[in-house]
Amino acid sequence: MGYDLVIVANRLPVDRVEQPDGTSTWRPSPGGLVSAIEPVMRADDGVWMGWPGGTEQDLEPFEADGLSLHPMSMTAEEIEGHYEGFSNATLWPLYHDLVAKPEFHREWWDTYVSVNQRFADEAAELANEDALVWVQDYQLQLVPQMLRELRPDLRIGFYLHIPFPPAELFQQLPWRRQLLEGLLGADLVGFQLPGGAGNFVRLVRQRVGHKTHRDLVYLPDGRTVRAAAFPISIDAAGFEELARSEEVTSRAKEIRAALGDPSKIFLGVDRLDYTKGIYARLRAYAELLEDGALDVEDAVFVQVAVPSREHVEEYQRLRDEIDRLVGRINGDLGRIGRPAISYLHSSYPREEMAALYRAADVMVVTPYRDGMNLVAKEYVACRYDDAGALVLSEFAGAADELRQAWLVNPYDINGMKAALLEAYRADGKDLTKRMKAMRKTVSHNDVRAWADHFMSELSHVRDKHGKAVRPASRS
Ligand code: G6P
Repeated sequence: MGYDLVIVANRLPVDRVEQPDGTSTWRPSPGGLVSAIEPVMRADDGVWMGWPGGTEQDLEPFEADGLSLHPMSMTAEEIEGHYEGFSNATLWPLYHDLVAKPEFHREWWDTYVSVNQRFADEAAELANEDALVWVQDYQLQLVPQMLRELRPDLRIGFYLHIPFPPAELFQQLPWRRQLLEGLLGADLVGFQLPGGAGNFVRLVRQRVGHKTHRDLVYLPDGRTVRAAAFPISIDAAGFEELARSEEVTSRAKEIRAALGDPSKIFLGVDRLDYTKGIYARLRAYAELLEDGALDVEDAVFVQVAVPSREHVEEYQRLRDEIDRLVGRINGDLGRIGRPAISYLHSSYPREEMAALYRAADVMVVTPYRDGMNLVAKEYVACRYDDAGALVLSEFAGAADELRQAWLVNPYDINGMKAALLEAYRADGKDLTKRMKAMRKTVSHNDVRAWADHFMSELSHVRDKHGKAVRPASRS
């Protein structure tokens, strides 16, 4: 028996964790993708294909927490070439404005192709006649075309969770044409922002030579592909409910007390990734302490850094740099029982995150480049008290919607210092006005609305004879 909805993602929504006694358990995997798609899956009763982490082979399909999961195993060589190599040391930095230098290796590309083919083959097996297949993110950009060759009956959607770069950067890639053609296998290609969709259409016209008009690409075989923006969101009501719970409320108080009841708590929550701007943000904060604008007796910066991609060299280097910086700042500026920065290199369950969001007075989200940044939206969703300040990078996708945040250029340390101080000193009335407006945006465009919008546009892209139809415009 097959499925009418197949989600194809690099990762399963749960990771397999080996216990010392040889048994294994599952825990939610990190990152924005999982939190965004999981609610859709629950509602639509489909199957989710992906890698469960690790190198274990021949895993059987299973159910976790009511979700049908189809594990795709990876060998050590595949993890190295496909995941750590081409996905995270070539594409990731290239798509994030070259914040780090991308590496181009032909063997990595070969592995990326073969892993994509394996995912496409498996999806072709799992999908019912006329099913809907939704492929996720940069690790699987060749799957749409590979799958279309195997199963022309399917409706295929693709969504890119990270930014899609301008032509000037993308064209460095030796395999630029293959990637564009891979994506064109989809009926609908979704991006976080209109800029990304525009970059894609322009590149298709220039590099592949297809005719385009606005958001449509016309292929020589008569098929039409649409490229459009669908800014992703979170389960806003779920986060608010969690934030209102007694457990989270008392945990938030506990956190404040454990930090010595400072008058203001600054908070950063990120995967430990060089795109997130953690170093510059902590430096800006430390300078405010040095200048005397802030005092460790009154304020503390809590930085949660979730371990990520720990075998990739750039991530190891970043970890060392942040460790050193935090050590130096605390050594120079902390006092007994009063660190300047409370640094946590660990991942936490949603409940703990909600408590941290509730405890924090100033949320600091300053990536150099970010597809969306769901942490910013989670903070807003948890502030049902209409309090709390958000300092947000202009270069996070979320800045397009959360206009009432203190928007900053993360490369401008003085500008960041000024924004942190303004947010710290803002009066209650100003905070309430800003937070109310942002909450309206986040609760209106939640993850359910995002997924419904994508799915309904996808089901309108072609009629049952395969002819392109223009989706009805939405109000
Ligand atoms: C980002 C990407 C996801 C990825 C997540 C975690 O949100 O868009 O595709 O799953 O980071 O990264 P990881 O490498 O651990 O899967």
